[in-house]
Amino acid sequence: MILRQAASTSSGQDQDRRLIVGLTGGIGSGKSTVAALFAEHGAGIIDTDAIAHHLTQAGGEAIAAIRAAFGSDFVTDGGALDRARMRGLIFSDAAAKQRLEQILHPMIFEQAKAQLRQLQDRPYVLAVVPLLPESRNFRQLVQRVLVVDCDENTQVARVIGRSRMTEAEVRAIVARQTPRADRLKLADDVIHNDAGLDSLAGQVAVLHERYAKMQNSH
Ligand SMILES: Nc1ncnc2c1ncn2[C@@H]1O[C@H](COP(=O)(O)OP(=O)(O)O)[C@@H](O)[C@H]1O
Ligand SMILES: [Mg+2]
Repeated sequence: MILRQAASTSSGQDQDRRLIVGLTGGIGSGKSTVAALFAEHGAGIIDTDAIAHHLTQAGGEAIAAIRAAFGSDFVTDGGALDRARMRGLIFSDAAAKQRLEQILHPMIFEQAKAQLRQLQDRPYVLAVVPLLPESRNFRQLVQRVLVVDCDENTQVARVIGRSRMTEAEVRAIVARQTPRADRLKLADDVIHNDAGLDSLAGQVAVLHERYAKMQNSH
């Protein structure tokens, strides 16, 4: 029994016994805020938005493929993805959006798995994946889904408060995301983020205790 366990843990993270929780939610629902609260408890955090940003920075691993697929107009003089230009393109061109995702999503998934291997000392890992409902890879990787949920008006007000976007722009993004009810259907656990930060911290503390006691049941 002991030998078998040793063999399975040495064969890679697919046999990892730690719980991996996928954290998702709409724009401005509070994913980053919740992840920071879990980090205070010692959870391992993987942030797919941060990975995507890193891949498309100057010298990032995705730049060569982006240049090949879209041309040098989409890469700045400094060698980073021209984010404003790409946003403009993919907002109106679904095929271009898909092409970009075909480049980025496999790279993000590989990086996430590499980071997972670096987080062996954590009791469990929270993977922040805004596109979890759309990502088969990530839904297979995680054993539980935690949805951060709040009223759409709260979401819109918070994003306006955090950025320079107008209400119409934020509502357009929300309308393109997975509908709230569909996202909630995937949830094993839900954090309700309509109240203040104290309420959020309390909910995170309860879930942390539960996750720390759980193991990957794969
Ligand atoms: N419970 C809360 N009370 C007040 N402000 C909040 C609360 N939760 C999140 N915020 C604020 O709302 C904005 C969006 O939250 P954030 O965690 O960045 O969302 P996401 O990562 O899901 O896009 C941030 O400015 C954050 O500080
Ligand atoms: Mg965020």
